[in-house]
Amino acid sequence: MENRKIINDILMCPVCGGRLLLTADGRSAACDGRGKRHLFDFASGGYINLYTSRAAGGDNAECIGARSAFLTKGYYEKISDAVNALLDKYAGARARVLDAGCGEGYYTNRMAALGNTVFGFDLSKNGVNIAAKAAKRASLPAFFGVASVFALPVLTGSMDAVTTIFAPCAEEEYARVLRENGILILAGAGKEHLIDLKKAIYDSAYENEGRRDLPAEKFELLEETSVTYDITLTSGTDVQNLFAMTPYFYRTSQKDKEKLRGISSLSTKIDVELFIYKKK
Ligand SMILES: C[S@@+](CC[C@H](N)C(=O)[O-])C[C@H]1O[C@@H](n2cnc3c(N)ncnc32)[C@H](O)[C@@H]1O
Ligand SMILES: [Zn+2]
Repeated sequence: MENRKIINDILMCPVCGGRLLLTADGRSAACDGRGKRHLFDFASGGYINLYTSRAAGGDNAECIGARSAFLTKGYYEKISDAVNALLDKYAGARARVLDAGCGEGYYTNRMAALGNTVFGFDLSKNGVNIAAKAAKRASLPAFFGVASVFALPVLTGSMDAVTTIFAPCAEEEYARVLRENGILILAGAGKEHLIDLKKAIYDSAYENEGRRDLPAEKFELLEETSVTYDITLTSGTDVQNLFAMTPYFYRTSQKDKEKLRGISSLSTKIDVELFIYKKK
């Protein structure tokens, strides 16, 4: 992000919970010094690591690379357009949006390109590194950090909207960081998402389960919608990349994985459910 000062309004120290402020040289963020000062440097790629646990996490480089290569081909552009239209409808123009589990920032940077100020967090350093570099190249108002969505380093009530796209749903945290009447957009696989890809691999291809409901005392459901269309992948690499970015990849036997090797084109259904909630 060109103007890093925006972080002064939103970042919370992951160690002591104090407000994080940009340092005078603009290279780090530090808490405001009540008790012990905690300092976090921006990485050369432009993101900041605010994840304090030693446990490694998030998608690995192979998965991130496959997803990045696949998404830049535009196969999922309609999903991104649908999320952007819902953001515009419910959160208004120039909203402050947190994209939870942002991966390599495909959706996040497209939200920023519309004039929203966007904060993307993911456990994967590889992911946020790619995301932050892309945002910098295009001078987008998007800021990226390493953090768990279950413990966001973000001040309470600081966001107009939270989006979670094929990512874990930490509803308690999302409710905390949203302002009153803030909007939560959940996007996840619908029943028939990638069903034809699954049929090419498995003898029995099961439908996906829908997403569970969120606690009614915290959120009010405003709209439930879906995006469905067909895509045709035109190369074996695209087929392999799509498979590698799905959760099935790691659960599939080598024998079943081999079935995709000879396939150089594939048509499959895209079926994404979108739930829009308002924080009560
Ligand atoms: C299926 S990917 C979706 C990424 C992106 N939203 C997209 O649709 O392209 C799920 C993402 O959630 C991230 N993730 C998993 N657990 C997480 C956690 N506890 N906190 C933050 N990110 C997490 C992974 O690293 C991965 O990038
Ligand atoms: Zn601190």
